[in-house]
Amino acid sequence: MAVTVKSQEEIQLMREAGKILGQVHDQLAEIIQPGITTMEIDKLGEELIRKAGCIPSFKNYEGYPASICVSINDEIVHGIPNEKNHLFEGDIVSLDAGVIYKGYQSDAARTHAVGKISDEDQKLIDVTRECFFKGIEFARAGNHLYQISSAIQKHAEANGFSLPRELTGHGIGQNLHEDPMIPNYKPLGRGIKLLAGMTLAVEPMLNAGKKDIWILEDDWTCVTRDGSKSAHYENTILITDGDPEILSLV
Ligand code: MF3
Ligand code: CO
Repeated sequence: MAVTVKSQEEIQLMREAGKILGQVHDQLAEIIQPGITTMEIDKLGEELIRKAGCIPSFKNYEGYPASICVSINDEIVHGIPNEKNHLFEGDIVSLDAGVIYKGYQSDAARTHAVGKISDEDQKLIDVTRECFFKGIEFARAGNHLYQISSAIQKHAEANGFSLPRELTGHGIGQNLHEDPMIPNYKPLGRGIKLLAGMTLAVEPMLNAGKKDIWILEDDWTCVTRDGSKSAHYENTILITDGDPEILSLV
């Protein structure tokens, strides 16, 4: 599938979708505390998404059973909410969510501290978020895609963290996953040339230890192979001739 450039009408719908998703994340951030179950986070997330007139895009996506991916500590992405699983003081938890508004998608993720966490874990969360912003400094028309990847990789590795090769960002629009794939490390070549009107989900996922991953028996939960912690930060952005517009951050 070719990479698409969105029309003004489509961009407007993606702005709406992104704004709603940013608000959902802000509201979910407020309920993160020791004792809450991952299922409670999913229930509230789904309710907020539907109340805002959106559809939770992850629900039933390739059989994924929930609306919010909740990934704790060594879980990188795609953790499945469960009513028996609760958060403990000192955990870090990544929430990944997607919404569809009038046929257009937005995708975003945040990692939160649960109560008081170690300085080391806070650094992992902070550097992951910084990687997103370092990456999107290069997200503008005329640049090449892997300039984003390269900036993410440099900042992560300069801080001693690693990047799983199997998990990438992606184009987004009427579909959750569109071309191009956006690796969080620099592949060979330059990647496609960015054009104004492209909409991308840029999503660094950083491991505190080694980059290797493992998928659990549930066929979804993606964990670090060495048991080290992992953090995730993602927004849907719009490429312009100047700075990108971050659609899913309010
Ligand atoms: N945000 C995830 C991604 O970009 C999507 C989760 S896939 C789902 O790949 F199946 F969990 F919905
Ligand atoms: Co994504």
